[in-house]
Amino acid sequence: MLPASLIKRKPLISPETDYSTLSNYKDFKVLKSFFDIELNFKKNLIVGSIKYNLLTLNKIDKIVLDSSFIDIESIKVNNIDNPFKILSRIEPLGSALEIPFNTSLNNEIELLINFKTTKESTALQWLKNSDEIDYVFTQLEPIHARSLFPCFDTPSIKSKFGAIIKSKFPVVFSGLPLDSTGDIYKFEQEIPIPSYLIAIASGNIISSKIGPRSTIYAEPEMLQDSINEFKDDVENFIQISENLITPYIWTNYDFLINPPSFPYGGMENPNITFVTPTLISYDKSQVDVIAHELAHSWSGNNVTNCSWEHFYLNEGWTVYLERLITSTGKNGEIDEKFRHFQYIQGWNDLIDSINSLPKYEYSKLVQDLEKGKVDPDDTFSSVPYEKGSNFLFNLEYQLGGLNEFKPFIKFYFKKFEKSSIDTYQFIESLYEFYSKDDKKIKILDDFDWDLWLFTPGLPPKFPFDTTLVDQVSNLVKLWEAKIPEFTTEEAFKEFFDQDEHTKVYNSFSSPQKILFIDLLIDLKWTPISSISIINIYKDLDESRNTEIKFRLFKFKLLNKLTQFYLDLADWLATVGRMKYVRPSYRLLNEVDHKLAVETFQKNKDFYHPIATNLVKKDLGL
Ligand code: BES
Ligand code: ZN
Repeated sequence: MLPASLIKRKPLISPETDYSTLSNYKDFKVLKSFFDIELNFKKNLIVGSIKYNLLTLNKIDKIVLDSSFIDIESIKVNNIDNPFKILSRIEPLGSALEIPFNTSLNNEIELLINFKTTKESTALQWLKNSDEIDYVFTQLEPIHARSLFPCFDTPSIKSKFGAIIKSKFPVVFSGLPLDSTGDIYKFEQEIPIPSYLIAIASGNIISSKIGPRSTIYAEPEMLQDSINEFKDDVENFIQISENLITPYIWTNYDFLINPPSFPYGGMENPNITFVTPTLISYDKSQVDVIAHELAHSWSGNNVTNCSWEHFYLNEGWTVYLERLITSTGKNGEIDEKFRHFQYIQGWNDLIDSINSLPKYEYSKLVQDLEKGKVDPDDTFSSVPYEKGSNFLFNLEYQLGGLNEFKPFIKFYFKKFEKSSIDTYQFIESLYEFYSKDDKKIKILDDFDWDLWLFTPGLPPKFPFDTTLVDQVSNLVKLWEAKIPEFTTEEAFKEFFDQDEHTKVYNSFSSPQKILFIDLLIDLKWTPISSISIINIYKDLDESRNTEIKFRLFKFKLLNKLTQFYLDLADWLATVGRMKYVRPSYRLLNEVDHKLAVETFQKNKDFYHPIATNLVKKDLGL
């Protein structure tokens, strides 16, 4: 049984209601959904229909769907024209689409809606690549599906999907491809998925098989580099995950390298993860993002958060699994030192993230979206990721370590497969799994659920193993001591050239080099020492790894090295990943407001609409 503090909060009906939808989703089961659409690159619109086969779970007098900046042309219910109304917009949820229709419980309805997207749609980015060739991609999580098609836009509702998509370019979709003929592309998603996991992209896309169940899709100039970067890890990651969790149910794990304006590192669209080209680092150092998106095949895409208030059930679980996957060595054993290293890095992100949140309240693990008033895009941060994965890591430790916790992982993903759940159901499943073990139940009873789940701010810090961090911080301490002492670049250079320092630095792994820069950033630099250190670690300054590049810009701007401001402005014209773009504009804004605003005005059409909106807010425009 749940502890009293949680019973008090638990709703009568599970899972909890999703208030970030205007639809009457609780009245239906969606048996099947079918797209028949055309991508129109002349008008930058999607035109066509969505057909729903619904089963009523209550007596109803209307069907209400979500919509946002889409036009509805006509609606048929059971093949007969039906009236409809688009209600006025309520921010941030959009416009309810009301379809009056009376029927009793347990009836099947066929609902056919002809619609088209508009220029304002936040779900789509239409663009031209560097060769002036058209391209379009969708990004629907969390609540942008309603801006692509009228739907029950809630992660609580899942449906099988079929799709016929007409386009002058090759198309990918979040399902398995069926035969395509000419400009008609067909897909099938046999596993029920929520609307936020629908994905479409089309452009000059080619593909290459990189594993027994994996194909990589990209524009031609990106394909070979992408293959080299990812081919060695993908199948290996799938097998590690299957051992750790449950069998992979989606048949294929394919992914698409999107153009640079893609606003996220990756998006776990079933059968076709979308990723940013900035993952291509030429040293495989960002394959953890692939491990992350792959892990969503279990946490998120199979067991799904029932609303965005429980978003950490998607992302916290995924980071937890991702770190187990990337810490598993060739012998199948977990490199715990490396796993701890990743958690320490994540902890530093969590501190930064909590400090830069628009509202301190957003640092709760279970969010309060105020019955739909708060836009889940506005509460997005590292909190669900890092506080969420730390929550699981602490539970694992308290319950006796990984060997004791692993059977629960399998149990959880089996128990809730293909469903959408809330936090209470998750905790209840822990109690259920350990019910025969009094000691473990006592541990669960003593766990401070309230602190972890409902209290803002940093959670208690785990005493992580610091071996891999110490190797880096020892070198950083040496530098720290020399900053006030050395007054010329030569002095720094000579010091660095001492054999043992070079050896230590060269032994660093890519994640350690990233930490190295993070720790250097935290020191107090003089003008001569800051420029010296950049010139000394030339390999970092010239790195093609965007994680390193971004941190170097951060170092340069925080130390007011004005000669690099324009370089950052130039770089901002080439990347759209929000993880870099938003903090970069904030940094630039702090040192040179005029340049920040000018740069943003110049690039705003390049960025994705979601990114443009958020940067605008960040810059106070
Ligand atoms: N599902 C997220 C991306 C997302 C979250 C899109 C919320 C829209 C709203 C994806 O799995 C993700 O977490 N991507 C991370 C990568 C990662 C390794 C933490 C990213 O984009 O940086
Ligand atoms: Zn994720």
